[in-house]
Amino acid sequence: MKKLQVAIFISGRGSNLESLIQSSFKKKSLVEVQTVISNNFKAKGLVIAKKNKIPSIYSIPNKNFEKKAMKYLKNVDIICLAGFMKVLDSKFVTKWRSRLINIHPSYLPAFKGLKAQDQAIKAKASYSGCSVHYVNSQIDSGEIILQKKVQILMKDNTESLSKKILIEEHKVYPRALQMVAKKLLSSQKIR
Ligand code: GAR
Repeated sequence: MKKLQVAIFISGRGSNLESLIQSSFKKKSLVEVQTVISNNFKAKGLVIAKKNKIPSIYSIPNKNFEKKAMKYLKNVDIICLAGFMKVLDSKFVTKWRSRLINIHPSYLPAFKGLKAQDQAIKAKASYSGCSVHYVNSQIDSGEIILQKKVQILMKDNTESLSKKILIEEHKVYPRALQMVAKKLLSSQKIR
């Protein structure tokens, strides 16, 4: 069976990229990671993509990012944002509706936007977590696909909470991607 083609957009470390790539290597995976695009040429994730022999790897600066990226997305079925720290323009978001997903380090709708783990600690919340959601035109507001709670203990700080959340992110994101792929395949919304 033909696997759905995935592009992953990154800006930095790439640990979610790595977990998505590793899970795509599983026999039962419905997806294949075809393309990695970074808006930061120094992103460590680019090295991870190379190491894993991803066929197409690009670095595109922020100016006209969307227009340039579109050229490389012709055979792509799903885009995953994985630590991608640029807000995509509404034309791009509309074009990729129901095929564009993001992971955010909080239990949405709480703590949208930047430094979500820090926001949770400062709010003295008893839990936070991570959420995979469809991307719409508002930040961290699209329909939620999968999320996981993480308890915040008295001794936790931003760093320890980020670590705990990241462990869950690496489990949740690959599962959410398979769910999205399954849905697209069953609705025949493939190219
Ligand atoms: C992850 O914690 C991800 O949830 C977060 O950036 C980190 C990227 O780490 N994303 C956002 O905050 C997006 N709003 P990674 O590069 O190791 O995957």
